[in-house]
Amino acid sequence: MSIQVLDKVFSLYISEKEIQLQVQRIAEEIQQDFSNEKPFLVCILKGALFFFADLLEALAIPCDLTFYRVSSYSGLASTENIQEAAPFPRDINGRKVIIVDDLIDTGNTMEFLISHLKKLGASEVRIASLFFKPGKFKKDFPIDYYGMEISDEFIVGYGLDYDEEGRNYPDIYRVNE
Ligand code: IMP
Ligand code: MG
Repeated sequence: MSIQVLDKVFSLYISEKEIQLQVQRIAEEIQQDFSNEKPFLVCILKGALFFFADLLEALAIPCDLTFYRVSSYSGLASTENIQEAAPFPRDINGRKVIIVDDLIDTGNTMEFLISHLKKLGASEVRIASLFFKPGKFKKDFPIDYYGMEISDEFIVGYGLDYDEEGRNYPDIYRVNE
């Protein structure tokens, strides 16, 4: 199945069902690791919105949460210039934080987030990312929880966009070259 988003055609790549299986598995892993301590979950807007909502629903433990917006992508390309849209909204001093993002590509965004949240006093910073592009990754930080490795192609759906379009599909689509 194919969809048109702006000037490009995308083909079905990962089904909603497969995504949901991974989300459930990640939730179980987090639950085991945080059975004694309330984690502080940070949703990285806007891409992680769907993943965050489904993850929260699957987590049967108490957790604090907040939203944080940064951007690095322009069109189909990642840039190294990470910018925060507004200052971090909550006090995370001394807390164990889990950064929840949609996708780790080069890793620039996550590297910025890890160091920023540590500076704000988090006692520990873990990472949960639904997707990971090993072929693009340029950093060496560990990814504590992730759903699946994917190919290097650009994807949309389940919260991920191409220039703000295409977020609202429950499945993941990849661009046709
Ligand atoms: P990084 O800084 O290169 O790791 O890029 C991270 C962010 O760029 C992700 O959180 C996504 O929001 C966005 N991004 C990276 N690859 C894609 C893609 O294939 N489709 C849509 N957004 C992407
Ligand atoms: Mg993102």
